[in-house]
Amino acid sequence: MAQEITVIGTGYVGLVSAVGLSDFGNRVTGVDIDAEKIERLSRGEPVIYELGLEDYLKRNLDSGRLKFSTDIQGSIAKSDIVFIAVGTPESDDGSADMSFLRHAIEDIAEGMDGFTVVVTKSTVPVGTNRWIGDQLRKRAPQGQFAVVSNPEFLREGKAVQDFFHPDRLVIGYDTERPEGARARGLMEDVYRALYLIETPIVWCNLETAELIKYASNAFLATKITFINQMANLAEACGADIHAIAKTMGMDGRISPKFLHPGPGYGGSCFPKDTKAIVSTGDNVGVEMSVIREVIRANDAQKVRVAEKIEKALGGLHDKTVAVLGLAFKAETDDIRESPAIRIVEHLLEGGAHVRAHDPEAMDNFKKIFGDRISYHDDEFTAIEGSDCLAILTEWNEFRNLDLEKAKRLMKGSCIVDARNTLDREQAIALGFSYTGIGR
Ligand code: UGA
Repeated sequence: MAQEITVIGTGYVGLVSAVGLSDFGNRVTGVDIDAEKIERLSRGEPVIYELGLEDYLKRNLDSGRLKFSTDIQGSIAKSDIVFIAVGTPESDDGSADMSFLRHAIEDIAEGMDGFTVVVTKSTVPVGTNRWIGDQLRKRAPQGQFAVVSNPEFLREGKAVQDFFHPDRLVIGYDTERPEGARARGLMEDVYRALYLIETPIVWCNLETAELIKYASNAFLATKITFINQMANLAEACGADIHAIAKTMGMDGRISPKFLHPGPGYGGSCFPKDTKAIVSTGDNVGVEMSVIREVIRANDAQKVRVAEKIEKALGGLHDKTVAVLGLAFKAETDDIRESPAIRIVEHLLEGGAHVRAHDPEAMDNFKKIFGDRISYHDDEFTAIEGSDCLAILTEWNEFRNLDLEKAKRLMKGSCIVDARNTLDREQAIALGFSYTGIGR
């Protein structure tokens, strides 16, 4: 049976979830305090860049199953299920900032009417869902609500595809309360479409669901950091990290995914979630030493790439570096915790001039760096007159960069390819001094 759902927060996760849940046949209202955003979404403007999102948004608006509203409590009152998808950014001490979540709980407590399942999609520290239950219990009689933890595993740039074809669904609920069982039944309805395509569904308690999410992100961050450090070792020993990673990946227990060396992981999730899990460990007296070291090593990797550029140029003062790629990964305009921020900062501190190009992320980068660097609409204008060409994001268009043209336009002949996207042999044959990662 289709359910009446409110999704609180129309950010990245909330919007994709609202659109996806309505496509499954549920009646969904996406709510947000940002009136302008709600108006744009109601007109079918997706507000974020995400492959396929616009089509799904329009289709579900047209069908009448999907709506957007600023009337948060009114929408909650009409819903059987309320998804919380507000941000939990990093606070100064590395723990997750829960202020948006607290507001959402207030709204739910005020608005809920009749039995309501409160589902947390936001990534929240272990114990939060239990705490949400305690908060709501102070306001609503026992049995009138149930709390569910349903973490998301969406990747930016592939979020729509990930929503409709997840590797697994994780649904944590209060296994000890009767309303927990009732919530489980409703969640089965919400996700019936995924159940029908045989998506594995993991039913567990609240704490397990919360920790599955952190463990998954921390593991992936560890895997990347491992291969980055191995790449540094390969470099020092004259080995080729690509052959190493490829062969490691042939072992089914390891898998070849997330073994691409680079300038360190970034984005809105891995940096924040690794810090949060260390902070959770501190709170409960468990030393998360592996993850603590991953955070340190990932930071060092960014600096290492900056130092590679410095070394290739024999110093940075008055040198011009063309930086291709500012986003934390390809197919997004997101620069949060992007290695490019740290690297460009280092270049500027050393007295270099930076000429930057990114297909999507320049506007966001401008918000941080303003006119301290110059921005160029295409690769070659950025490259013109530079001493060094540095590739920091693995955009597809950089893979086929016309190196002959680049060589003619550049003043110098250094390439630092932090994503190993270029053809090293060709670069060397053209007279470039080429530095990659781990080869
Ligand atoms: C990540 C997870 O992959 C999602 O499953 C999760 O839902 C999401 O965080 C979240 O918690 O919301 P995302 O941040 O979009 O998704 O990015 P990823 O594609 O995982 O990449 C993260 C970083 O690792 C990027 O900087 C990327 O360049 C880097 N990376 C990734 C590598 O350096 N090497 C790799 O082999 C893979």
